[in-house]
Amino acid sequence: MGSYKYIVSKIPRMNIEKIEKSRLTPESLEITTFGNMFADHMLVCEYKQNVWGEARILPYQNLSFSPAMQAIHYGQACFEGMKAYKDQEGEVYLFRPDKNFERLNNSAIRLNMPPIPQEIFMDGLKALLDLDRDWVPAKYGMSLYLRPFLFATEPMITARSSNEFMFCIITAVAPDYYAKPLRVKVADKYSRAANGGVGYAKAAGNYAASFYPTRLAREEGFDQVIWTDAATHQYFEEAGTMNVFVRINDTLITAPISERILNGVTRRSIIELAQLNGWEVQERPVPIKEVEEAHRAGSLKEVFGCGTAVVLNNFAAIGYPDETLEIAELSEEESWGKQLKKQLTDIQNNLAEDPLGWRVKVEKNLVETILNS
Ligand code: COI
Repeated sequence: MGSYKYIVSKIPRMNIEKIEKSRLTPESLEITTFGNMFADHMLVCEYKQNVWGEARILPYQNLSFSPAMQAIHYGQACFEGMKAYKDQEGEVYLFRPDKNFERLNNSAIRLNMPPIPQEIFMDGLKALLDLDRDWVPAKYGMSLYLRPFLFATEPMITARSSNEFMFCIITAVAPDYYAKPLRVKVADKYSRAANGGVGYAKAAGNYAASFYPTRLAREEGFDQVIWTDAATHQYFEEAGTMNVFVRINDTLITAPISERILNGVTRRSIIELAQLNGWEVQERPVPIKEVEEAHRAGSLKEVFGCGTAVVLNNFAAIGYPDETLEIAELSEEESWGKQLKKQLTDIQNNLAEDPLGWRVKVEKNLVETILNS
């Protein structure tokens, strides 16, 4: 893929406007629903006339746009999902933010949007988190979900690429995404992605297109869809908003990264942790037939999905048109999924060594330094 030509202004000075009175209450950090308890501040940065402007941090608020804004009409929009964690000393950490930065810009290029300069993404993220560090829950299993997103803002309904864009970061308190193991329905009609498409990008439209098949699966008593390859529907690819792993005997198998598969940061981390544990991991196509046969033979130990929001969730059942495979839940000691989830969460929360250098500390007083500079 060719690179997108863009002009970067000098490292932008950040403009910070603090909220007058925080909305944070003890209850804010105890919520049990994902995605609607937003922290005090947000970051906004506009791209106009081929240049990224100054990043601004301001109180979380509604924004106003033209009804002709391109993103609404043509879906020129993408996003990232990341999390911040707090350890027992109150320090705040990001997890592999470089991976999200890289992926956001890969998505941007695919959707013909200008990549975000690293200073805006990283310094902006750290300053926003420094300012809202009290919003990062200290409770194990909870975190502050970070949502960087980029969208087309030009007010014009000609079907062509926008010339104006906005990059924002909002954050929301994140409890467990799913409360129980999931029942997933294998897609035999609808597809999430096809070769040459945008499956590997975190394009907003990928999620919109998943909602209808997901509703149909829910009406049949399932929680989510397992997406299969568009050409044959014979291979597992992703599930809901997650990458998928199948464990047959003592081998973990997951679909290889391709144009159709999201390059999940949790997926990559799970593979690397499993390999550190000395467990065999195969990145190769996952035939549905092999999973069915393993289930019949008793060698299908577990199937799980993983992603930033979900972390890792074991599947309780896989539904095909003619049968549903029930998968017995393994104990903490037996389940590789449960062990990997704990290992990962321990690293993220600074409760374990960080052998691969994934944690990035958010320095205190960054905002004061910027304000006093
Ligand atoms: C994430 O795991 O960050 C996701 O992208 C899921 C999100 C759509 C809630």
